[in-house]
Amino acid sequence: MNLLPSPSGEARYESPDSVRAVFLAGDAGARLLAGPPASAGAEGLSSHLGRLGAPSALAGADLVEVVAASGLKGRGGAGFPVAQKLNTVRVSAGKPLVVVNCSESEPASAKDRTLVRLRPHLVLDGAAVAARAVGASQAVLYLHRGDLRSARALDAAVAERKQAAIADPDFSVAWAPPRYVAGESSAIVRFLEGGEAKPRFGTRAAICGVNCAPTAIHNVETLAHLALVDRMGPDEFRRCGTPGFSGSVLVTLAGAVQHPGLVAELVAPVPASELLGVAGISSPPQALLVGGYGGAWIDGRSAWDSHIWPDALLQGGFSFGCGLVGVFPNGACGVRETSGILSYLASESAGQCGPCRYGLDHLANSLARLAKGEAGRRELKALERKAASIVGRGACSHPDGAVSLLRHCLEVFEADIRSHSQRRPCRAAHSDSVFPLPSQIEQTWR
Ligand SMILES: Cc1cc2nc3c(=O)[nH]c(=O)nc-3n(C[C@H](O)[C@H](O)[C@H](O)COP(=O)(O)O)c2cc1C
Ligand code: SF4
Repeated sequence: MNLLPSPSGEARYESPDSVRAVFLAGDAGARLLAGPPASAGAEGLSSHLGRLGAPSALAGADLVEVVAASGLKGRGGAGFPVAQKLNTVRVSAGKPLVVVNCSESEPASAKDRTLVRLRPHLVLDGAAVAARAVGASQAVLYLHRGDLRSARALDAAVAERKQAAIADPDFSVAWAPPRYVAGESSAIVRFLEGGEAKPRFGTRAAICGVNCAPTAIHNVETLAHLALVDRMGPDEFRRCGTPGFSGSVLVTLAGAVQHPGLVAELVAPVPASELLGVAGISSPPQALLVGGYGGAWIDGRSAWDSHIWPDALLQGGFSFGCGLVGVFPNGACGVRETSGILSYLASESAGQCGPCRYGLDHLANSLARLAKGEAGRRELKALERKAASIVGRGACSHPDGAVSLLRHCLEVFEADIRSHSQRRPCRAAHSDSVFPLPSQIEQTWR
């Protein structure tokens, strides 16, 4: 499988000048990560304004129009058009609110916290642009409890801006429980209303969000791009990326790489081989984990020459999700690894809808038995049937993500699955997991 060719057989993407397409913090040529190197920490206001100049004076419908022309799509996982969400909030009844989703629930992802800690003013500028677009006077910084480094960076930046009399919305901080689904938009609304940070059915935050106020909930990276759109205008913004997905994208390199958690910025589709070269990987690994824990496994050999980019991955049937690119090494056990991740995802469900209550634990237990060589072909078939029965039936897409990972595991690690189901697990079936599996230190949802 190669993600690159279009159905007509022609390459859909220009092959990028690949080495220059991948940037780390401080590289000249980067966009979000341009400026001081990562070692310099959070960029201060004078450096930020010195590099990028002042924001535009646009507001309301005029600003939304510029955002629409830029083609900016959300970076929180679903790739939803930003102008569409902002416009819905803008025209909906009630006092609008902006929420900066800094929660970054994905355990192996680090792109949002990296951005917040290195470029807090870019994120806050983006929140201010969103507020200008929708007419909001308040913006909530929604952080995971315990993420003190991000909080400090934001706190210091807000203080600097106040002192400089920057025209910002009124920023406040909400400390969310560090749970996987607490970053989902309806869970955010519920939490900000004083409830538990659990998703709920049928809410569209942009129309009826926090206390039914129209609420623009955006991912941190989305807002940083929005700050650039506001300054650059649509044409300049579109100079990066592809017609279908404009601007640069942040990816987190994870798993068996030199520095798990290293964040790179791509300004064009780039072959996985070159991106992984940055992480010290010089030959195809066994598999890549893309999009996050509710994402997909891709066979390492076929992924090697494929392009990493949201619409390139989508074309191959994979979601770019939170931009996670995880390396799964040769010799490790994909069945055992998926079993660990699935158990984690099951433990993180809010346990309030059927598919999570009756499905995820069941899937996780069956896969754990398979990983240990305790389940045979019949249980494997039952596992596949159960997985198919729970898709699309939760209040949020958490179970769908878990099933996606499981399905790709059954496909990509098919040979291992076969020997495990013949009760012959490989030796690596008892080794440590490659990707982090946070323990539930804090059980609360409030
Ligand atoms: C289970 C689950 C967890 C999520 N966690 C996060 C998260 O931690 N951070 C985030 O930005 N979006 C997360 N999302 C996506 C949000 O619901 C929402 O779509 C996103 O914040 C919108 O931002 P965007 O329009 O800027 O992409 C999650 C979604 C689901 C289904
Ligand atoms: S699908 Fe699962 S995680 Fe999502 S709201 Fe329902 S119980 Fe919670």
